[in-house]
Amino acid sequence: MAFPQQRLRRLRRSENLRRMVRQTRLSVDDLVYPMFVCAGSGVAKEISSLPGCYHLSADNAAKRARELSSLSIPAVILFGLPATKDARGASGCDPAGVVPQAIKAIKDAAPELVVITDVCLCEYTDHGHCGIIDSNQQVDNDATCELLGKMAVVHAQAGADMLAPSDMMDGRVAVIRKALDTDRFSHLPIMSYAVKYYSAFYGPFREAANSAPQFGNRRGYQMDPPNSREALLEAKADIEEGADILMVKPALPYLDIISQVRAATDVPLAAYNVSGEYAMLLAAEEKKLIDGKAAMLEMLICIKRAGADFILTYFAERAARDLGA
Ligand code: PBG
Repeated sequence: MAFPQQRLRRLRRSENLRRMVRQTRLSVDDLVYPMFVCAGSGVAKEISSLPGCYHLSADNAAKRARELSSLSIPAVILFGLPATKDARGASGCDPAGVVPQAIKAIKDAAPELVVITDVCLCEYTDHGHCGIIDSNQQVDNDATCELLGKMAVVHAQAGADMLAPSDMMDGRVAVIRKALDTDRFSHLPIMSYAVKYYSAFYGPFREAANSAPQFGNRRGYQMDPPNSREALLEAKADIEEGADILMVKPALPYLDIISQVRAATDVPLAAYNVSGEYAMLLAAEEKKLIDGKAAMLEMLICIKRAGADFILTYFAERAARDLGA
């Protein structure tokens, strides 16, 4: 008596049959590489919390961009490490700031590479919050949105291809859309960090971006991990405000959320495989507790299987090499 499972086992054992019936594929097309850009020239300083990632000045960011592009990685997302920080994050709206300079250098070096910019104040404020703080020590939502609109236009003027607001202020997608439209950038898409949880997995990033809040925390504007319904509310609100692509963040502990947002919406969906997910895997690999390459590829393809169209990941370059790009 032949059980169907026997034939399934055969499908699994043969490399070629396995390839033929695979439902999900991972390719270099799925990968976006996050880059931390800083002031100066000739700077390439490894980030201790994110081994293999660097603080790069614009000239070195451009070099890196060429390498990434030669591996066929389609896009980068830029985070700024400004020379100065203040309470209102003024350096984030400076047309001569670190991100605009890096955009120009990257676009000169690798024009085909899609340059996405992170639009958020936390990298530029001295208190580390994602917005400006009012007299009650609370984030001033509306005043912050206005600054984010300005920052988006500054990035667009420097040549950014896509703007990615990560602050989680209410109504910021609409304000950024309007600011871009009135400044002749109505063709530029917005990828909104629509579903962003209050997560311990951002730890290594905050060291990398020097953006840990100096008081309080981000609970007021980031989502509560045990909740899934509000993910759909946030996703739908951002689409109504004009988001062209949505993002779920973090990825690995939130695969159910990726899957639910995928089912409930029709726009492209990104997932952010965040700093803690990267650092955790590297630490386990270093201790020889895990096969790093296999675990990385499994992690990335499972994020795709959950429903992500593409993945922002510090593994982008390594995965591109391992996938034989
Ligand atoms: C800025 C921002 C953060 C990340 C991306 N954009 C930090 C935060 O919200 O604290 C985290 C990315 C990562 O951990 O890799 N708001």
